[in-house]
Amino acid sequence: MDTPDDSLTISRRDLMIVGAASAAATTAAAQASPAAPAVSAPPPSAQVSLQVNGKAHILALDNRTTLLDALREHLHLTGTKKGCDHGQCGACTVLLDGVRINACLTLAVMHEGAQVTTIEGLGTPRKLHPMQAAFVKHDGYQCGYCTPGQICSAVGVLDELRRGVPSHATGDLMARPLLSVDELRERMSGNLCRCGAYSNIVDAMTEVAGGRA
Ligand code: FES
Ligand code: FES
Repeated sequence: MDTPDDSLTISRRDLMIVGAASAAATTAAAQASPAAPAVSAPPPSAQVSLQVNGKAHILALDNRTTLLDALREHLHLTGTKKGCDHGQCGACTVLLDGVRINACLTLAVMHEGAQVTTIEGLGTPRKLHPMQAAFVKHDGYQCGYCTPGQICSAVGVLDELRRGVPSHATGDLMARPLLSVDELRERMSGNLCRCGAYSNIVDAMTEVAGGRA
């Protein structure tokens, strides 16, 4: 019977020594030739001109800045609220060239030269916009967090109705959409209100549109 050749036998201790030596050699090699330092390029940026509430602004912005952040963080117009930042709540609604838009879902650099109207540009505490006054009259809010977005959206909705833009609730696409509770609720469905002021908001909008709630 063959006997094991002692010269070929590696003990567990020998194996550990060999492993530790090889790890040390690898570390030393890595230290001797360190990888090139990471160069962090500045984020791409651009100059953007916007007319906000009738005033011209030129902003130097990181290209990834949303319109919402440009308004709140750069122009300090904090009336426009950040709710979800994902296009799901409508708190950030503003009017862009007269059309309502979720400011959190669009980049400021996409709107060079655009006219933006925020809640601060609709009216003032001494001279409320008719929609603001109607919200007050009809208790169209409680905590008020969603309210700037609701009011901007409501102004946009009445303009859509005036222009005959149909909605999912419009029965006859060839006829002018009617001022109805169903139309208003459908068109305002992207503006959430955790306080549940929905029916009062519809009353306020109906009054401004000259209809009956
Ligand atoms: S913050 Fe823009 S939709 Fe919610
Ligand atoms: S008034 Fe509170 S969330 Fe609408």
